[in-house]
Amino acid sequence: MNILVTGGAGYIGSHTCVALLEAGHSVIVADNLSNSKIETIHRIKEISNKDVLFYQIDVTDEQAVEAIFAKHALDGVIHFAGFKAVGESVERPLHYYYNNLVSTMVLAKVCQHYGVHRFVFSSSATVYGENEVPFKESMELLPTTNPYGETKAMSERILMDIAHANPKFSVALLRYFNPVGAHESGFIGEAPNGIPNNLMPFVTKVAKGELDKLRIFGDDYNTVDGTGVRDYIHVMDLAEGHVAALDHLDEGAHIYNLGTGEGTSVLQIVKTFEEANGIEIPYEIVDRRPGDIAYCYADASKAQKALGWTAKRDLKAMCTDAWRFEKQYQALVDMK
Ligand code: NAD
Ligand code: UFG
Repeated sequence: MNILVTGGAGYIGSHTCVALLEAGHSVIVADNLSNSKIETIHRIKEISNKDVLFYQIDVTDEQAVEAIFAKHALDGVIHFAGFKAVGESVERPLHYYYNNLVSTMVLAKVCQHYGVHRFVFSSSATVYGENEVPFKESMELLPTTNPYGETKAMSERILMDIAHANPKFSVALLRYFNPVGAHESGFIGEAPNGIPNNLMPFVTKVAKGELDKLRIFGDDYNTVDGTGVRDYIHVMDLAEGHVAALDHLDEGAHIYNLGTGEGTSVLQIVKTFEEANGIEIPYEIVDRRPGDIAYCYADASKAQKALGWTAKRDLKAMCTDAWRFEKQYQALVDMK
């Protein structure tokens, strides 16, 4: 299939481009590079030994999106483009609502106009709110604590309503748990600007000596060791989940959790990283981070049954692959 990947220069999008190319699909990337680098596109081509078409456009710009649809016979869209920093979304709500909602609506509108019926959307486990674990797709969603989470819940609703009104429209709403790690080549990975918000990129910066220690946000949760529990999933497993979703896309809107079904605490991540890479990670326990919950992990059985997809890579691989990328990352910056 000929797939338009919005946000394809970003962390999850770039790995998904590799998985799509490996599965024999053709890829066209649309990205404004607001949180990514053009070098990543070169690296996708290098890893896969295939060509990728790239358009530097903003996907809230309807004319620019339409020009791509007019030029290429597309079979489907995977929509990753969006802003994702939870804290920033509280400070700049309009920025988040505008970018994340308008991009989704523009794409859906142009898809309808051009008769492109396959649509895969990046949602997040954050839409469950503080629900009972494991999180199941059938659960009623609870309010999230931030505008970012609301943009995901609202985008899901918009796409479900469009699918309801247009029986041919086939949408997969993929709720990601915590993607970590990198392609095993170490060529592409997660490279956030500034001080990372997320655990694994913070840990790799500490391992590199760029940050002096990890701050663990609370050890008084009701969990195995008091630290927060999450469902970490290797980004290549997540990427392959998109290919499976695209291959099995049926009419209507379908929600799938993409997680492993396993919960891991912050201290367990630190220990696994230290053992896997032979590097000590100094840490201190600090106050809880506002908005954090104790537990977040998936019931991953629906995707397994319906898509024949399941996460294969373990925590050790997530830690070694994340570290391999971090060690090579400066070369990516220098080449820009
Ligand atoms: P990322 O920031 O690395 O990638 C997003 C890409 O979209 C970037 O390359 C950015 O330049 C681009 N972009 C943003 N707005 C755009 C616009 N208006 N037009 C064109 N390009 C635009 O983020 P990621 O981690 O790869 O996340 C991808 C998607 O998955 C996002 O929608 C995110 O909300 C969602 N998600 C991520 C996580 C996570 O932990 N990383 C978890 C759940 C859901
Ligand atoms: N943590 C620390 N120290 C840090 C960073 C994180 O102790 O420096 C802890 C958090 O308190 C949490 C765990 O590590 O217990 C994971 O935190 P992340 O920030 O890596 O991830 P979150 O689970 O908070 O959120 C992520 C994405 C969201 C997405 C959500 C979906 O950042 O965008 O997963 O599950 F919505």
